Amino acid sequence: MTQKKEPQLMQDITSLSKRRGFVFLSSEIYGGLGSVWDYGPLGVEMKNNIKQAWWKRNVYQRYDMEGLDCSILMHSDVWKASGHVGNFADLMVDCKECKKRHRQDHLKENKCPDCGGALTEPREFNLMFKTQIGSMEDSSAEIFLRPETAQGIFVNFKNVLNTSRKKIPFGIAQIGKSFRNEVTAGNFVFRCREFEQMEIEFFCRGEEADKWYKYWVNERLQWYKDMGIDPLNLKIREHAKDELAHYASGCSDIEYNFPFGWSELEGIANRGDYDLKQHAEFSKQDLTYFDTKTNERFLPFVVEPSGGVDRAFLAFLVDAYRIEELENGPRTVLGLHKDIAPIKTAVLPLLKKNTEIVEIAKKLRDDLSYDRRTVYDDTAAIGKLYRRQDEIGTLYCVTVDVDSLTDRQVTVRERDSMLQERISIDRLKEYLREKFNS
Ligand code: GAP
Repeated sequence: MTQKKEPQLMQDITSLSKRRGFVFLSSEIYGGLGSVWDYGPLGVEMKNNIKQAWWKRNVYQRYDMEGLDCSILMHSDVWKASGHVGNFADLMVDCKECKKRHRQDHLKENKCPDCGGALTEPREFNLMFKTQIGSMEDSSAEIFLRPETAQGIFVNFKNVLNTSRKKIPFGIAQIGKSFRNEVTAGNFVFRCREFEQMEIEFFCRGEEADKWYKYWVNERLQWYKDMGIDPLNLKIREHAKDELAHYASGCSDIEYNFPFGWSELEGIANRGDYDLKQHAEFSKQDLTYFDTKTNERFLPFVVEPSGGVDRAFLAFLVDAYRIEELENGPRTVLGLHKDIAPIKTAVLPLLKKNTEIVEIAKKLRDDLSYDRRTVYDDTAAIGKLYRRQDEIGTLYCVTVDVDSLTDRQVTVRERDSMLQERISIDRLKEYLREKFNS
């Protein structure tokens, strides 16, 4: 097996993504928009699968979680209370020669890393995108695109508590778009200006926050492993005190070994009662929790596992990509977990000119599509069709051949082992159900 060749791997992934329809540059026909990406036919399937797997694990399979879907646009006071208006900024310097802008904390020396020119004094650059609500163009109508989904959860804490009748400890989970005007964006979908987050705010008693913080670090790490990421490519990095965000009293990153180095995949933070306290003060609303068992009223602490869909997408792609040397040449395989792979089954007729074979194959495609994403392809010879499906991670190829007309069986080929089995057409649906549910 060919070993991954970083940083060549990043180029391979980027070109595969474009060639096979996983990811395209936004507004490409106009020259593209920096660090904004569109997900193509395969990309949207895979991204939906990531979100679905996360939701299933964190909402469906837990008794202590509720879901939520908040608006991207929120009252501008939310961002004053959260600290984003005052603190969500990078210190930037400009090169006096080439005029390029750099993040000060990314510089090793006090000169331009591109041309060596002298730099301006650092200035704060807020990462939130501003926009206007309504038709007034004055500052009272100015609002922001949310830079994180978390605040929507905090401002709805009482709504969810009152309607769900949950008792702490419990969490609220949300998946949605966030926007940051990143200055040094890059590395494909790793750092984008528009991206999706999968966030949980887990509310608990202050004295239990450290226990839940440790719990969530392990639980989230385990999820990436369960979804097929090689454990050797994952590690936990605890933040030093001077690295902590303005709201956090403790934070650990789950890092992935990307081709460009170990980088943050997800952060798990102990936010204390910072957010609820701030929103209670700014909104003048009572956001306390009443514990009927102990007759105590208090502001719960919050533990927050916060991951990026786009970063998870990139990590899954990088981890799954491999080139195998076979006797008849190399084959590229995306060894994605069955829950993450964009296409689950491909139905391939061996002879596209044989109408009976095509008819059976199309009927199978229709039947299997009820259960999971299935495609039909008859546009090349079988060897090429297999390679095409391997390259996008399709788990099973079902081939209909001349023998199928008499023995009513098809060949099912498994992606990783390439083992082939003859299965009766009548049993195929059940056979695949067993494989996908195991
Ligand atoms: N609510 C906490 C929060 O937003 P964060 O560390 O700033 O914390 C959480 O972001 C996660 O969101 C990151 O671990 C990353 O996966 C994702 N993320 C943040 N900024 C991103 C960007 N510009 N592009 C893609 N994903 C990003």
